[in-house]
Amino acid sequence: MTTTEAKVANHYTNGALQSAIAAGWAKMRDNSDAAPVDLLAGVDEFHIGGRPATKMVCEQLNLSPGLRVLDVGCGLGGAARFMASTYDTIVEGVDLTPEYVSVGNTLTHEVGLSDKVGLVEGSALELPKADASFDRVTLFHVGMNIQDKALLFREIARVLKPGGRLAVYDVMRVGEQALDYPVAWAQDETTSFVGTVPAYKSAIEAAGLSVTLEASKKELAQEFFTKMKARMAESGPPPLGLHLVMGQDAGLKAANMAGNIAKGAIAPVLLMAVKP
Ligand SMILES: C[S@@+](CC[C@H](N)C(=O)[O-])C[C@H]1O[C@@H](n2cnc3c(N)ncnc32)[C@H](O)[C@@H]1O
Repeated sequence: MTTTEAKVANHYTNGALQSAIAAGWAKMRDNSDAAPVDLLAGVDEFHIGGRPATKMVCEQLNLSPGLRVLDVGCGLGGAARFMASTYDTIVEGVDLTPEYVSVGNTLTHEVGLSDKVGLVEGSALELPKADASFDRVTLFHVGMNIQDKALLFREIARVLKPGGRLAVYDVMRVGEQALDYPVAWAQDETTSFVGTVPAYKSAIEAAGLSVTLEASKKELAQEFFTKMKARMAESGPPPLGLHLVMGQDAGLKAANMAGNIAKGAIAPVLLMAVKP
């Protein structure tokens, strides 16, 4: 692990996530008959828009039973379990943060998906996966922690099969205003590498992939933060919410992200690409 990667993993490490999620999950189960994978979505979909954003990305991926998917920077594996349970795909995840991989694999076991989903520790810049071994690769809110986008997309292109598709759903720079910190992915600018849309597209194309779609998800983000604020004001944090992964300063991080988006500095953007 590089020094920056160690700082990034440290940023995401909580130390007591397993017990916090278990407590919240028990409360949720007492009050809901929803499927376990859906109950967990409040905490294990750690990107703007949560589960609805994951569904939006999946709709672009043409997923079907048996396809092999790699979720790079998989976090707790929420998107991986959703893809496996909804589309009957085989999903592998790679993430830098050991606690996320460990808790994620426990959750996968508890919801009975261990035969279809497996998460391992590793870097997106040195993926522990064979060449041309995946039909689809996904990246949900990870590139903001990675400075070397050219290497990131070369690694992704390496593991994709010819004809395979990539979905990138990252927070990107859309204006030049200074960013307010902390945000969900970084306490300050030393581990924040938010790239512009043109920089992403040229790194993807330089890796030999063809970009097929570019779509700003600013409106989805604004709706997400407005609803989050209203829910917090009305009933406080839910038993399973992103406050569990964002920590003590979760409120400030959410407010800064909403503010950075409102002033036009950043937005979540979806990019789709294909390997010829
Ligand atoms: C904001 S979280 C998103 C997690 C997950 N993709 C999701 O949407 O729920 C960012 C994740 O990227 C991971 N990450 C950051 N840099 C990475 C790298 N170089 N290699 C692998 N994972 C990385 C972090 O450990 C963290 O789990």
